[in-house]
Amino acid sequence: MGQATETKNDSIPQVLQAIISNETNHALWLNTLSLLEHIGSRKILLTQSSEDTSEMILRHATEEARHALFFKKAARTIQPEFRSGYQNSSLVRGTAARIYFAKLDTLVRRNLRKVFPEEKTFTYLAYLYTTTVIEKRAMVIYTAYDEILNQNGSPIRLTNLILEEEGHLSEMSAEMFRLDPNASERLAQLEEEEAKIFARFWHQISEFSLN
Ligand SMILES: [Fe+2]
Ligand SMILES: [Fe+2]
Repeated sequence: MGQATETKNDSIPQVLQAIISNETNHALWLNTLSLLEHIGSRKILLTQSSEDTSEMILRHATEEARHALFFKKAARTIQPEFRSGYQNSSLVRGTAARIYFAKLDTLVRRNLRKVFPEEKTFTYLAYLYTTTVIEKRAMVIYTAYDEILNQNGSPIRLTNLILEEEGHLSEMSAEMFRLDPNASERLAQLEEEEAKIFARFWHQISEFSLN
C-alpha cells in the first residue's frame, strides 16, 4: 500500500469513534457493513456457480452471508427497534457504498478482460481479485473498528469475523498466484486504483460522521 493511501487511512479511527458515539448512527453503520457483506455473498453465488463450484466457494459465500446477518443483528443490539432491510434511510450513505462495490468490480474486470479472454478463468480471477482487494480494505477497517469497540466496552466484537476474513484472503491468494503469473504486480496495481475509489467513499462516511 502506498504512502498516499496510508495518509488517508489516518482518519479511520476518528471517523469510527464519532459514528459509534451516536447510537442511531452506529446502527446505520452496522447495517451498511451488513449490506456490503450481503452484496459480497450474493455476488459469489451469482458468478461462481457452475460444475466447478468448490468447497472454498461454498465456504466463502456462506461465511459472507453469515457476516451480513451478524452485522444486521449487531445493529439491533445497539438499537432494539432497528428496522431490517437495506433502504437508503437505514444505511450510512447507501448509494456511496453500492457505488464503491460496483466501481471496484468494473475496474477489476477491465484489467483482466484483455489478459484472460477465456471466460471461465476470467470469471474466477475476477472473483479472486475483487474479493481480495475488498477484503484487504475490510481488514483495515475491521481491525480499527474492533479496537474502538473494545476501548468503548461494546458488547459487539469482530474477533471471529476477522479470523474468517483472514482465512478467505490466504485461500484466495493461493489461487491467484497459481493462475496468474503476474499476480503480485496486478494486485498492487489494483490496490492502488482501489485506494482512489475508497477515498471517495470514505469522504462520504466522514461527512456523515459529523452529523
Ligand atoms: Fe465477510
Ligand atoms: Fe470474506
